[in-house]
Order: sequence, then C-alpha cells, then structure tokens
Amino acid sequence: MSPFPDFKNLKSNRDSYPSSDPETLVQSSKLDKIVVTGGKPLNGIIPISGAKNAALKHMCAALLSDEPIYFENAPNMLRDIQSQCDLLTYLGCQIRREKDLMAIDAGPVKSQTAPYDIVRKMRGSILVLGPLLARFGQAKVSLPGGCAIGTRPVDLHLNALEEMGAEIKLENGYINAKAPQGGLLGAKILFPKVSVGATENLLMAATLANGTTVLANAAKEPEIVDLGECLIKMGSKITGLGTETITIEGVKSLKGATHSILPDRIEAGTYIIAAGMTGGTLKLENARIEHLSAAMGLLSQAGIEVEQSGFDIIVHREIDRIQGIDIMTEPYPGFPTDLQAQFMAMLCLCQGAGMVTETIFENRFMHVPELCRMGADIIVQGNSAIVRGVESLKGAEVMATDLRASVALVLAGLVAEGETTINRIYHLERGYEDIVGKLSACGAAIKKV
Ligand code: EPZ
Repeated sequence: MSPFPDFKNLKSNRDSYPSSDPETLVQSSKLDKIVVTGGKPLNGIIPISGAKNAALKHMCAALLSDEPIYFENAPNMLRDIQSQCDLLTYLGCQIRREKDLMAIDAGPVKSQTAPYDIVRKMRGSILVLGPLLARFGQAKVSLPGGCAIGTRPVDLHLNALEEMGAEIKLENGYINAKAPQGGLLGAKILFPKVSVGATENLLMAATLANGTTVLANAAKEPEIVDLGECLIKMGSKITGLGTETITIEGVKSLKGATHSILPDRIEAGTYIIAAGMTGGTLKLENARIEHLSAAMGLLSQAGIEVEQSGFDIIVHREIDRIQGIDIMTEPYPGFPTDLQAQFMAMLCLCQGAGMVTETIFENRFMHVPELCRMGADIIVQGNSAIVRGVESLKGAEVMATDLRASVALVLAGLVAEGETTINRIYHLERGYEDIVGKLSACGAAIKKV
C-alpha cells in the first residue's frame, strides 16, 4: 500500500510521457550508442522537462519535513533522478513516481548515512548533507569526489556549515557532521566564491536553524529561487532569493507541500542551439526565456531568433549561416557553463570564428578533441578555445565524456555529413529525458542502438 493518497489532486502537464519506466532506463547497458545521420532540419514541438538541477535539490529538501512533499513536472526519466531516489530510499524515504509526478515522504527516515557507492554515481547527493544535519543533528555523507570536468571540491559547503556550529570531521572518505546540541545556529556567512551547491546546502540547513542566517555572495540561479519557493511553501521564512544576499529565519519544523518544478533552461537552451544549427523551427513547450537571459542576447547576435509565446518558446534561425561570436561562462545571470559545449558545437560551422572562455570549471573542454575528429577547427589555449568556422563536419565514431559534452556531440551529428555514432550515452541519459524521442519527433534521423 503506497503511503500516499493517489496523485489525483496533482496535475501532470505531460499527456505523453516516455514509455519505459525509470528502472529500465537505469538497466540500459553502458554499451548503448546513439547513431545520428546529419543534414535534416528540425521542425516540430519539443516538451521541455522539469529542471534536473532543481529536482535533484528539491528531493533533498523533502528530508527537512516528516510530511510528504508532492512534485509536478518532475523529470523522472533521468538517470540522476533515479540515483537520487536510490539514495533517499536507502535513507528510509517512501517515494512514488508516475509520469512527471513524484511524491517523497521522509517521515520514516532512519539512517543519516549516504554511502560511497551511491554518492559516487551522482555528485548532487552531497545536497542531503544540509537537510540531514538540520533535521536530525547528524549526517555521514561520502565525499563526492571529482568528475570529468573538475575536482569539484565541497570546502565551501563544509566551511559554511561549521560557521553554523556544525562539527565536521573527514574520515575514510566520509564527511562526519554533527550539529551542536539544540541544532544548528543562525550565522552571517560570506561565501568566498559563488557556488550553486553550497548556496543550496546552506539555504536548506538554515531553514531549521536557531535564529537567522544570512548568505552573502550567494548564487542566483533560477533553480535556487525555485528551491527557495518550495521551502517557503513548506513553511520556511526566506527573503532575497535571486539576489546575492539571502536571509533565512529558522523555524522549528517544516510541513508538507506541493510544488511544480521549473522547466529545465539548459535542456531548452540545448534545443534552441540545435534549431540554430540545423535550421527549421522548433516550439519548445513549457519553457521560459527569462531564465536564459545572457544566452539569449548572444544567440540572437549569432543569428538565432527566439521568442516567448505564452508558456512556450519559438526558435528559428534567421540567417543562412550562424555568425561567429565570443562567449565567456559566468555565474547566473551570465552565460551558463552548462551551455558552453553546445554553443561551441554551433560555432564549428559559423561564418568567421568565435572564442569560448570557460571560467567556472577547470576541465570543461573534453568535447574539443571529439569535435576536431569530426573536422572542426578548434585550438585550446588555457581556459579559452578559438573556434574557426569550417564548411562542413564529417560524421565519425565519437566518445561521450560528460553530460554536456555528450549532447554537444549529438548536436554536431545532427549537422555533420553522414553518420555519427556516439558511445557511452549513459552520460546523456543523466540529464536529457528521451532525447532520441524528442529529436526524432522533429525529423532528426537519430536512433539508440
Ligand atoms: C551545479 O554544480 C550544477 N550541478 C552544474 O551542472 C553547474 O555547471 C554548476 O552548478 C554551475 O552552474 C547541479 O546542480 C547538480 P558550483 P555545483 O558549486 O553546485 C567550485 C550539469 O552539467 N567549488 O557552483 O557543483 C567548483 O569546483 C552540471 O548539469 C569550490 O571550489 O557547482 C566550480 O569550479 C555540471 N568549492 C565552481 O566552484 C565548493 O565547495 C562552481 O561550482 C564548491 C564549488
């Protein structure tokens, strides 16, 4: 018997949802590949899923309450969401998913240990640290370790929690954290560097702390604003969301809530770039242009026309060839690092040249050698890459290395001459729900083998 009343009072905004259930997605083997035959323009409608980089944190926020939290517009078919479900279930949560609906009941949570073999699969698990510490006064979370794009330290998370009175010891690859008797203490925290994850961990921890917490030099991403709005529905007292100073007044406990997760701006940005590369017109359902502010200006400079029409985004390429322009990744509202690889794929066929500068991660150019194998002309110097437009790309067998590099290779395959095979597509399935289904519905010659 599910611990939840059925989902009848929740509204699924996806009449058609990918057929296979999340569990079968996870079973798909590491040998799966995607084969794309280039040259087809994209025309049609793509439903944009709920934001992965919001949902993963909202799920952790459920740990703060002993009442069920209900989510609409959840991207249930993502590998990372499955990993987060595995972790929360391990801790004792009851979880139910149906299409894009999700319910999490953290009432029965009895463990506060996030083990290595789950955390290593998905770094977003570090976001259980703040909620567990805040609600249970203790947490033992495996250090997430690095990933392909960088060492990904968590020092900003840990130093800030210590400022709230937590005692933190690192032993055998685990973070052992204890809150003072009576719980975490409100504190004035100045982050030495803008960090999305650290802002989110501390935002959640502060909701149940004694007194008021101020987070200065906080990240301003829309996913953080959405997390804050969910926490406010649960009874938190938060002001300053979306600015660099967030103030949280601790409360004794949080209650259940229902929240619709904001659309995935990176998925939307990826398909906007896809339309810019292939030509054609796409309608992206349930997507919000205001969340892609800086990127929009640069995309229209490159020649891509994007407009908001109600809840949807309409995108088409204005001119017959993308213009080369320079981009630099920055914390929100700057150009998002999660669109850097995709933008670089677009620059490969541009008129002229463009310079791509990556300021957020130390190793986020792994897509470069693979794009060069398809005939791109890219030279990397330090944290910048010079992309000179070529007449065409040639299909090739390529290797995906991280989530966004993988999708950049799919985009390149959509415009390359001949066939491109992308290996290790489990990276892709971490962050793009049903990408083969969504692209083939718009005319792309793409299939999973
Ligand atoms: C989030 O990662 C996203 N992941 C990333 O998306 C995104 O690229 C990143 O924010 C920046 O927007 C999720 O939301 C799950 P950070 P996060 O803390 O929170 C350094 C994708 O493709 N840093 O803002 O880990 C860090 O090394 C992924 O969907 C410290 O030095 O990013 C990086 O250089 C990739 N110490 C910079 O700050 C810390 O304690 C920004 O990292 C934490 C971070």
